[in-house]
Amino acid sequence: MTFQQQIQEGIPSVLPQPKPYETDINHAPKRKEILSADEKKLALRNALRYFEAKDHAELVKEFSEELEKYGRIYMYRLRPDYRMYARPIEEYPGKSNQAKAIMLMIQNNLDYAVAQHPHELITYGGNGAVFSNWAQYRLTMKYLSEMTDEQTLVMYSGHPMGLFPSHKEAPRVVVTNGMVIPNYSKPDDWEKFNALGVSQYGQMTAGSYMYIGPQGIVHGTTITVLNGGRKIAKNGEGLEGKVFVTSGLGGMSGAQPKAGNIAGCITVCAEVNPKAVNTRHSQGWVDEVITDIDTLVQRVEEAKANKEIVSIAYQGNVVEVWEAFDKQNIYVDLGSDQTSLHNPWAGGYYPVGISLEESNKMMAENPDLFKEKVQESLRRQADAINKHTAKGTYFFDYGNAFLLEASRAGADIMAANGIDFKYPSYVQDIMGPMCFDYGFGPFRWVCASGKPEDLAKTDAIAASVLEEMAKTAPVEIKQQMQDNIKWIKGAQENKLVVGSQARILYADAQGRINIANAFNKAIADGEIGTIVLGRDHHDVSGTDSPYRETSNIYDGSRFTADMAIHNVIGDSFRGATWVSIHNGGGVGWGEVINGGFGMVLDGSPEAARRLESMLFWDVNNGIARRSWARNEEAVFAIKRAMEIQPLLKVTLPNSVDDALLG
Ligand SMILES: NC(=O)c1ccc[n+]([C@@H]2O[C@H](COP(=O)([O-])OP(=O)(O)OC[C@H]3O[C@@H](n4cnc5c(N)ncnc54)[C@H](O)[C@@H]3O)[C@@H](O)[C@H]2O)c1
Repeated sequence: MTFQQQIQEGIPSVLPQPKPYETDINHAPKRKEILSADEKKLALRNALRYFEAKDHAELVKEFSEELEKYGRIYMYRLRPDYRMYARPIEEYPGKSNQAKAIMLMIQNNLDYAVAQHPHELITYGGNGAVFSNWAQYRLTMKYLSEMTDEQTLVMYSGHPMGLFPSHKEAPRVVVTNGMVIPNYSKPDDWEKFNALGVSQYGQMTAGSYMYIGPQGIVHGTTITVLNGGRKIAKNGEGLEGKVFVTSGLGGMSGAQPKAGNIAGCITVCAEVNPKAVNTRHSQGWVDEVITDIDTLVQRVEEAKANKEIVSIAYQGNVVEVWEAFDKQNIYVDLGSDQTSLHNPWAGGYYPVGISLEESNKMMAENPDLFKEKVQESLRRQADAINKHTAKGTYFFDYGNAFLLEASRAGADIMAANGIDFKYPSYVQDIMGPMCFDYGFGPFRWVCASGKPEDLAKTDAIAASVLEEMAKTAPVEIKQQMQDNIKWIKGAQENKLVVGSQARILYADAQGRINIANAFNKAIADGEIGTIVLGRDHHDVSGTDSPYRETSNIYDGSRFTADMAIHNVIGDSFRGATWVSIHNGGGVGWGEVINGGFGMVLDGSPEAARRLESMLFWDVNNGIARRSWARNEEAVFAIKRAMEIQPLLKVTLPNSVDDALLG
């Protein structure tokens, strides 16, 4: 059977043979035992409803075993035999070009080179699912292959509810993930609903088919380090010869040394796990590996003296680095931490003075003692960081719950008011005021032709659009524009593509619109093929997350989620090809609501109209909310948007004299 026929087949009427559990692939861990005996029956009944009754007797035993062994029913037997990757768009079967583009994006999210646990349909973050089982995948692909531009596919947390009649201007797909009643949104609720097969954790770009591999993180991290550098610059100087100390060479944290090199500083990144060190070193994401603390001290002194741009992995505990640099008087300019403290007791953070192996044993065999050790280590780490900040180091939390867990451990990390932390988060101090409030965020595109030449052409188009805009950009955003021009010009050389031919580029509303318009024109002129536009959910308007994306909202509304919900509703009737809205993502189930879109550009006048309307709303919705929260940068940006678009009328805040409030 050809690839196209297999897609069109959906769930086969004759069951494929069972598939062996492949051991050379990265699998999701066994999930927590959560269902009662009756609920297990319900999970099986739910799984079997995808199949004809004649197959139930054969499948029930197998699915029951999967549930016992892995805590979920993935339906491994239904994994397709073809290679999973983003094919050129014309290789997909179908009647709708938009639907074909979505198939391409789904397959990219499940590509073995891209996905973290491809057989469990998990793209990233341990539990970021595209689907919950392979029946859902097959059925979705079949629907996409037969739908027209007069239908919309409705996705309920991985389950394709079906095709519904709509119209050409409607989204082709509407996705929700993890949308549960708020009172049932505790982590164990997710475990249960997911095991029952009725809800899933879509992370951000996993369940919305918009993941583009690690380059998204590299760009965001580069911007954070660069702007952190600007905050500490005394005379507008750059990061030459300055030292950035941090930790973690894992999934996201592994981007730090590469970002440090692009930003132009000396990066010291501690990582306890030699496997993670080797992976990042062999990928060329970190330049040097040092395993001895005295050698590290000498090497950093040398790099400082020579003003080298270099990234160094210290294979060891980050606490040792902070303490040794304090003792040896190595001045640290920038400091952060990217251990996985959102998961402190199960391997997210390794305590100092205990080997990796010992820690792994202790957390399973003596969790109470392990917790004590983690907290002791966090107090030591905070003490050492405090010594550095007393000398002038600028330290920020990287959205990994370092300050939160350090405070719970009783570390000296609280501000004088006893409510706030001593140090800001990266969104409060850097990303929020310097990027999001002005509308700059992680815009991205994918060349559906699969051709690297197309990507190179789009890079050049985007660079020339931004260079033109930079000529007249107001001083407030000039620096951001220049950073993004530098990024896009260096993008090819930095070899960032993993999976589909994709690019991330931070841009504001007007930048995104102008770039998209230029792409649409290039498609119409036959210079490039179809383009899929999108963005990370970690953006200006897409995400309501009180301790991350909206942590710099200070009017009390950071615990509301109106912005994210409005965003996705507004995108859907302004021309998005697909939209998605999720509970959870980044910081955990129940902690965040986030959404995004995908938009197919085909060179048509309709695409030009849709991109103008939708991208303008997609960014300015969030700026309006940030402005109403009295964020000065956003007030500036929304006033500017109203000048550009007279149909925009946004309610502006009046400020109150504090003296009046007593
Ligand atoms: N990069 C970003 O843009 C970003 C944004 C928001 C939040 N985060 C947060 O950053 C954290 C890291 O994410 P990740 O995907 O890299 O996780 P990860 O678990 O893949 O990597 C963390 C690494 O830290 C190492 N580590 C743990 N304790 C250590 C210690 N004491 N000293 C040295 N190394 C230690 C671990 O071995 C692991 O390799 C997460 O909490 C994530 O939510 C990152």
